[in-house]
Amino acid sequence: MRLSLRFIIPLLIVLAAFAYAVLPLVDNLTVRWFVRDLEIRASLIANTVQDPIRSLFRSGDHAGIRQVLMGIAQDERVYGVAYCPSSEATPIAAGTLPSPGRCADLESLSDPEGHIVTSPQGPLLVSVHPLGSLEVPDGNLILVHDMSFVSRRSQETRLYLFYLFVGLGVTVSLLTVIIAQLSWRGWVQGMRALLRGEGLLRPVNQRAAPEFQPLASDLRELIRDIESGRRPRNEDHLTWSPEALRTVLTHELRGQQVIVVSNREPYIHMRGRDGIEVRRPASGLVTALEPIMRTCSGTWIAHGSGSADRDVVDQHNRIGVPPDAPSYQLRRVWLTEEEEAGHYYGFSNEGLWPLCHIAHVRPTFRTADWEQYVHVNRIFARAVVEESQSNDPIVLVQDYHFALLPRMIRDALPNATIVTFWHIPWPNPEAFAICPWREQLLDGLLGSSILGFHTQFHCNNFVDTVDRQLEARVDRETFTVSYRSALTSVKRYPISIEWPPPAHLVEKSVAQCRADVRRRHGLPEDHTVGVGVDRFDYTKGIEERLRAVERLLELQPQWVGRFTFIQIAAPTRASIEEYDHYQLRVHALVDRVNARFGHARYPPIILLSDHHEPVSVYEYYRAAEVCVVSSLHDGMNLVAKEFVAARDDDRGVLVLSQFTGAARELPEAIIVNPYDADECAAALQAALEMPDREQRARMRLMRSLIGEFNVFRWAGRMLIDAAGMRRRSRLLDRLVTRDFPRGSQPPVDGLQ
Ligand code: F6P
Repeated sequence: MRLSLRFIIPLLIVLAAFAYAVLPLVDNLTVRWFVRDLEIRASLIANTVQDPIRSLFRSGDHAGIRQVLMGIAQDERVYGVAYCPSSEATPIAAGTLPSPGRCADLESLSDPEGHIVTSPQGPLLVSVHPLGSLEVPDGNLILVHDMSFVSRRSQETRLYLFYLFVGLGVTVSLLTVIIAQLSWRGWVQGMRALLRGEGLLRPVNQRAAPEFQPLASDLRELIRDIESGRRPRNEDHLTWSPEALRTVLTHELRGQQVIVVSNREPYIHMRGRDGIEVRRPASGLVTALEPIMRTCSGTWIAHGSGSADRDVVDQHNRIGVPPDAPSYQLRRVWLTEEEEAGHYYGFSNEGLWPLCHIAHVRPTFRTADWEQYVHVNRIFARAVVEESQSNDPIVLVQDYHFALLPRMIRDALPNATIVTFWHIPWPNPEAFAICPWREQLLDGLLGSSILGFHTQFHCNNFVDTVDRQLEARVDRETFTVSYRSALTSVKRYPISIEWPPPAHLVEKSVAQCRADVRRRHGLPEDHTVGVGVDRFDYTKGIEERLRAVERLLELQPQWVGRFTFIQIAAPTRASIEEYDHYQLRVHALVDRVNARFGHARYPPIILLSDHHEPVSVYEYYRAAEVCVVSSLHDGMNLVAKEFVAARDDDRGVLVLSQFTGAARELPEAIIVNPYDADECAAALQAALEMPDREQRARMRLMRSLIGEFNVFRWAGRMLIDAAGMRRRSRLLDRLVTRDFPRGSQPPVDGLQ
């Protein structure tokens, strides 16, 4: 309405002014036309009657002249007519004359310009027509026309013109309003595209909108200003701690609810011999997110997989955790064996896991598994909606178990801010293309507002895959994907660990840890120990690592009996055949190597294929001279970072696979190709012989990096970006709803 008035009122004013100026002009013109017509008519009459009048005058027949004149006066527009033989004579007249005196008086009323005379009888036109010729003049014929019909006609014309202008005004106004509305919508959509960062392209037909070209950079600048005004100054120099993260939550996100969704739960309740025990799973994801949730006090939705999980939850399937000092809610989702088999073991871990890890294990794709994957994603989407306390929560979706979840949440809660983090590598487009449901997976992930990977390489692979597989627009400058009229920002967020590490994990002294571990395994106090800590997974390169130990002993026999490698391998995904085979292979390898060096007093390899709680894992980190991380492919690998965090004595050497995300952040480790046994053996040798000074220098650099780039920074950066998106979305909402109130607009798409 406001918009319509804004267009109609000025338009009507312009039209009124136009009418005011034009009408007198038209009036004037009409009068002139009529005067000209009457003059012509009068000349015609004069020419017609001049001969009879002249001869009648010559014969002195004044009554005859009057007779002729009366014939002329019959005309309704002729008011009067007179013959003036000379100026001094008295006119011979018929009809009514305005000045019935002398001929000169009558003639003086005529105006050569044809102006109308106003007389007591009304408006008159007096025209004088000389009779005879120039040489022999014979007096004048004077015609007096009644001009009152002109003003009557003129009034009618004004009325018609008035109606014409009103009609014209209304039509033009309506057309203007319609065009303005349409083009305003176009502008608003263009603005929205700009605000979403879609540059100058229209989402629908993907063509450039040149009218926005000059505006684009100004608008972006404005948004940047607004954002930077709100962004904590010197974010890079912030010391990222739980308090800093809390500040981000309070100030940037105004204490908004944070919901985390993962398959693995942070605390597992198991029935044990002594009652219910609580376990912390061996999971990088849990290691990273748990301190974040303790800080954010949100809700973590996960599969309740423990044997006693159901026994401890409330009627809403929730339990406060950590058990000793609850600070956030764990909402458990129950799955049947069939659902777990298809979703977790099947599609997630026999399909997507090998697909994304280049570890030379073929992915297996079964339709039944896919169906369970879709079904379980839906179950979790429902749980998110149930747990959401508003229509715009911040949902942090974790990992490859939930590729479809972002889209499902977006459909149910269009205003949610969905940040998805993919904890494992993303393969190249050719590798990903073998998945029969590749398009559905990409469509699901692109329901996210932000999609995070550990490394830029994986971000690149993802956008390349989207480019290859979907009708989407990829902007490589801003690293955004525009798909289904919404935008997903693809970003690198290298995951990390809590810093400083929890005090209880490092409270036992390094000397004590060394002594305890050696005693536990019957090793002498001065024995050199290497450690590996992994889930018992074929991607972790455990076989390769143990072969490197064997090669070291082959090449450097002085270590036989003096060096033992302790491998902690947490049982995982046991019902998958590939894992079974792998674990059997590793056990056999350990037996073979130990047998080969059976003559030594102490075994080269100790394999601990049990679950170890974090405190126990840290004890091994602190007890070892060297830690080996030899993944064949790994998104990040937090064991590498944990080992560094555990070494507050600045000792110990990290041997790290070049195929981990961590290798990009920790170049002070000895970086190796795990497939090259000789290189790995040489790295072990270098590590075991590394002088203390060098160990200290390398360890300090790595520790300072992890201290700075800790997990609070990882989460903080994602949440700051999420907050920025929410602000943008609000700004856009204001822009759109100001002129298009909610309900009169097409739905706001994907700006969260
Ligand atoms: O880091 C990759 C990851 O698959 C996580 O998603 C998961 O929590 C962890 O490894 C352990 O795997 P799982 O949950 O299958 O035991």
